[in-house]
Amino acid sequence: MLVLGIESSCDETAVSLVEEVAGETPPRVLSSVISTQIPLHRLYGGVIPELASRNHSTNLPGVLREALEKAGRSIHEVDAFASTAGPGLVAALLVGNTAAKALALAAGKPFVAVNHLEGHMLSPFITHEAGLVPHLSLVVSGGHTLLIDVQGCSNYKFIGRSRDDAAGEAFDKVAKMLDLPYPGGPEIDKRAERGDASRFKLPRPMMHEDHLDFSFSGLKTAVLYTLPKLTPSGNPNDLDEQTMCDLCAGVRQAIIDVLIHKAMRALKQTKHRVLAVSGGVSCNSALRTQLQERCRRARIELILPPNSLTTDNAAMIAFAGLLHARAGEFSPLNTPVDPNMKLAGAQARV
Ligand code: KG4
Ligand code: ZN
Repeated sequence: MLVLGIESSCDETAVSLVEEVAGETPPRVLSSVISTQIPLHRLYGGVIPELASRNHSTNLPGVLREALEKAGRSIHEVDAFASTAGPGLVAALLVGNTAAKALALAAGKPFVAVNHLEGHMLSPFITHEAGLVPHLSLVVSGGHTLLIDVQGCSNYKFIGRSRDDAAGEAFDKVAKMLDLPYPGGPEIDKRAERGDASRFKLPRPMMHEDHLDFSFSGLKTAVLYTLPKLTPSGNPNDLDEQTMCDLCAGVRQAIIDVLIHKAMRALKQTKHRVLAVSGGVSCNSALRTQLQERCRRARIELILPPNSLTTDNAAMIAFAGLLHARAGEFSPLNTPVDPNMKLAGAQARV
């Protein structure tokens, strides 16, 4: 089965072709083309929804053509069309979603509306030899920080979430405060590599509380109060380079400590022996290394997507579409996009 996926929920226009070959696991990612709008939105310090949607419409035809060419397939060979239906920016979602529906209608093939979060959640399994297995999922993106007990496709139980900012949002907001470019995660990550994480004592909110929720908003407040102590002007541009790197290292480590601590607690609680981590923050170099070390010591199998599949991409949408199509779960063409889309098959929090 050949599935074409389209992603346009935020500032990446992406198309991917994923093929399941009988008797083979995992499926083959024939192409995964991403056209990022980050340089454009960087000028404004964040994503401008109107600009995002206009650019999706101009970029999509070229991205679609390139994805088909790279895969060496024609549109007539596609068995199902999948696209992100939410959560995300409504005007941005509409572009990819409408294109996928139009292609499905023209080709007389089924359409699958995919939840963006489910795309991230399942992304570590795109390249996993054993396919999708029951596991604990930690999703760390710009919009979400979630712990989910996954028993199988469409069998999800939320067990933890951020009560305020998502982990990626915390990176982005602290970076903005430090006058670093958007998106902040990679900028903080880069500087943290040259910094001393122990120089600044930053808070790890809720880390030792007896539940699986997160809170990251206190981190930006802590940085806000730290800045004037480091430079009389309070202007981050007056910090010497080493101080900036030390601050970035401190912020990165505070976020990592909380994520790993809560994930380990959740593993104990759910008795899962497999941890899958996904979303844009999961390409953080130190998070990956420290997770690998902790999981090795605890004899937990850690599944991480390759870096290219951590931030927004369409391979994860095509893959989720493939799993649903395989189960005969298709969506009518009048399925609306939903900026606050809930995960189908998810049970309420325990
Ligand atoms: O999953 P994603 O591409 O989009 C959402 O669905 O939100 O995640 C984007 C987030 C941004 O907040 C970005 O700052 C963060 O992922 N991010 C990182 C890194 N690369 C991207 N955070 C920390 N370290 C990184 N290397
Ligand atoms: Zn995402």
